[in-house]
Amino acid sequence: MENFKNYIEKNSDRFLNELFELLRIPSISAIKENDSDTRLAANLILKHLVDLGLDNCEICETKGHPIVYGEKIIDNNLPTILVYGHYDVQPVDPLNLWDQDPFQPYIKKTKIHPEGAIFARGACDDKGQMFMHVKALEVMLEHDGFPCNVKFMIEGEEEIGSDNLEIFVKDNKEKLSNDIILVSDTGMISKTIPSITTGLRGLSYMEVEITGPNRDLHSGHYGGTVANPINILSSMIASLHDSNNKITIPGFYDKVLDSSEDEKKASSLIPFNIDEFKDSIGINSEHGEQGYSTIERQSIRPALDVNGIWGGYTDEGSKTVLPSKANAKISMRLVPGQNWREISALFSEHIKNITPKGVNSKVTEHHGGEPYVAPTNTVGFKAASNAYEDVFDLKPIPTRDGGSIPIIALFEKELDSKTILMGFGLDSDAIHSPNEHYGVSNFFNGIETISKFYYHFTRLFKANS
Ligand code: BES
Ligand code: MN
Ligand code: MN
Repeated sequence: MENFKNYIEKNSDRFLNELFELLRIPSISAIKENDSDTRLAANLILKHLVDLGLDNCEICETKGHPIVYGEKIIDNNLPTILVYGHYDVQPVDPLNLWDQDPFQPYIKKTKIHPEGAIFARGACDDKGQMFMHVKALEVMLEHDGFPCNVKFMIEGEEEIGSDNLEIFVKDNKEKLSNDIILVSDTGMISKTIPSITTGLRGLSYMEVEITGPNRDLHSGHYGGTVANPINILSSMIASLHDSNNKITIPGFYDKVLDSSEDEKKASSLIPFNIDEFKDSIGINSEHGEQGYSTIERQSIRPALDVNGIWGGYTDEGSKTVLPSKANAKISMRLVPGQNWREISALFSEHIKNITPKGVNSKVTEHHGGEPYVAPTNTVGFKAASNAYEDVFDLKPIPTRDGGSIPIIALFEKELDSKTILMGFGLDSDAIHSPNEHYGVSNFFNGIETISKFYYHFTRLFKANS
């Protein structure tokens, strides 16, 4: 297995060029105009799977963006690994804050990535990380071949909620049956400290509209006499947290599961420097729910945030106007015990209850997803742990991540299998932000670690059955 590294090094330029080709395609799932590009990305991945000799390679149509599928079943007695990833990316705005075109990938050295990082939208989330799995297949084929069965399922709607993948999974349980699901779409603690994500937060995404007068009004003539929707929305939003930064929606915390002593111990072992955290994002003080550490606030505790707020006059100069409408998009990150549909309903009910006279409120539910926690006493976790140790010379630390991949909890429910989240991104990689990037060494180490996982998993699976 030592020569995995040699093969990866020898082919490193080609691997990067192939990734760049994928990164040049602006597959932004949220933007209709980009639909044909999004399909091009799917076709390019399909071509890679076909070239690797996978069977039953196909573009699976959905009501939205297609799903790419391919498999290699070498022996029904061997375990099956199902790889999941996404080829869609987030929109690029604000475009003026990018140093270069987000779809013209280039490599630049950074403080954290002295060997260079790949800059492009999707470099880390998730094209770069997903493509490591494609290259890991090549690495294995060039050596002893696949040690077990492989299925690939790469979707194009993760960044918009995976609604169509949900249908696809429910309709194709047999086709997707597996012993473990393998995903690289999360992060690790630092370049040299590997970690395995053992939990993701759930999500409930809402939109609120407050309507007051039937038209925009002169703010002198009417100011002080009618409820201003922006004033009202602002105070409603402000009231969603109390002075201890607890969320005030009745029932919100009722089902939150406290983390176990083991989990608390594990989280206290995670290396974390609060000053580095503050410096890295340019803030002078942390902020959050009283009684919890920053690590806890971003992983095992729920959160509520306004993602966007608009209304009234926001263009150049001033215009004296009392707006007729105000809107906000609000997301809630959820933790084990909470159910996103229940939380969405509590939110809607609460907004209705706190809407004062003089305005009307309307709440729209966007997408959501359940939180996920994975056990660490499984064959999959051990195999991942061994694989990281081979490559990084360190045992990976289990961490709970604050982000969401809504489909993961559904996989467990529908396919009855656990997911191993082997992420290689760093918090500083600026996913969803301008100048998203991904360390070149993270990319290569990821390919190697994933290739090793297949062998460890197969070996441990056989020993256990
Ligand atoms: N890959 C991310 C999720 C992620 C990032 C998890 C870092 C853990 C660490 C994924 O693509 C993502 O952005 N998910 C969205 C949810 C989706 C429904 C829009 C999120 O977390 O906001
Ligand atoms: Mn992602
Ligand atoms: Mn994302």
